[in-house]
Amino acid sequence: MITRTVLTSIFLSFLIGSICFTFAHPTFIPNSVEKEPIYILAIESSCDDTSAAILNHKNVLSNITASQKIHEEYGGVVPELASRAHQQNIVPVVHQALNKANIDKKLISAIAFTRGPGLMGSLLVGTSFAKSLALGLDVPLIEVNHMQAHILAHFIEGQEDGIPEFPFLAMTISGGHTQIVLVKDYFDMEILGETLDDAVGEAFDKSAKILGLPYPGGPLVDKYAKEGNADAFQFPKPKVEGLNFSFSGLKTSILYFIQKETAKNPNFIEENLVDICASIQKTIIGILMDKLKKAVKQTGIKSIAIGGGVSANSGIRTALRTAEKNRDWKTYIPKFEYCTDNAAMIGIVGYLKFNEMDFTNQSVSAKARYKITQN
Ligand code: KG4
Ligand code: ZN
Repeated sequence: MITRTVLTSIFLSFLIGSICFTFAHPTFIPNSVEKEPIYILAIESSCDDTSAAILNHKNVLSNITASQKIHEEYGGVVPELASRAHQQNIVPVVHQALNKANIDKKLISAIAFTRGPGLMGSLLVGTSFAKSLALGLDVPLIEVNHMQAHILAHFIEGQEDGIPEFPFLAMTISGGHTQIVLVKDYFDMEILGETLDDAVGEAFDKSAKILGLPYPGGPLVDKYAKEGNADAFQFPKPKVEGLNFSFSGLKTSILYFIQKETAKNPNFIEENLVDICASIQKTIIGILMDKLKKAVKQTGIKSIAIGGGVSANSGIRTALRTAEKNRDWKTYIPKFEYCTDNAAMIGIVGYLKFNEMDFTNQSVSAKARYKITQN
């Protein structure tokens, strides 16, 4: 199946590349570094969101995302379907981003794209498209690490909390990652702790699935939790050394709890949904906050930024704001549009790398496993 995806992506790449190429200068000379102002076209396709953004320096002019509803009925992302949907969405999404920004493609200074980590078939679509368009428009190509982008989204102009100063601690909380990262500079990061099994987003989504909620369940657990009693039910917190996390035990204990209660009362979930969601959310946020407190104690750094889809969660946002008041922390919480996967965060990394003339070349390929510490 993946072979067909790869072949289709390559075909698409050559098709788009050749169309663009006919309009462009025949030789590839990255001359755009001299152009002012700087416009970055950014493309994100690592999982199930196809997104394109235009940035003028650190300002986001447009940030268009096509989310794939098709996975809802399968209870999780189906990689082959995600790849196909990216192929359908990428051209309209890029067009919309250009239109909304009111920018002609000839003004683009460079193209930034997500190289990894993510699903191979999904990454291939964005990577092939970005390579082809960069070749066609005769502009430099910039590869971006998706997890670095979740952190560096804080450098986008107009974030409510301002811009964090180095060094700071970043907690990446998404559907694929849970990490505490020491950020010494834009591209100098050290992982202090990470999950040993499931990511925190998976903990939300799998708990939601046990409750019969559709994928992705995280936002729904959050929604119902707001109306529930967080002390109604108790779930055990895992005991994990250092700054590492573990969420698979929690998922199992929620499953056993629900099985036990529904055996006694088949309507248990619907009668208690909001209280169950609130209790699950309280437990998960407690696990994250315990580790953050430990990281602050260990490093002496009180400047904390969060990134990734779970940063949209109201529980973690409130917990951080409370810690800011009670613990003398400075917390950085991204705007909602920069929490879940989006191309604006790829664009800000593109802009930072553009300033360093840190370009990649046409031999670059997608990288499903890509550590945040790799540049
Ligand atoms: O960063 P992201 O969009 O994609 C990955 O890189 O994984 O994160 C997606 C994850 C999903 O697990 C989703 O359920 C979770 O973020 N999520 C939330 C909320 N919004 C998104 N989890 C809890 N509460 C939310 N409000
Ligand atoms: Zn992400």
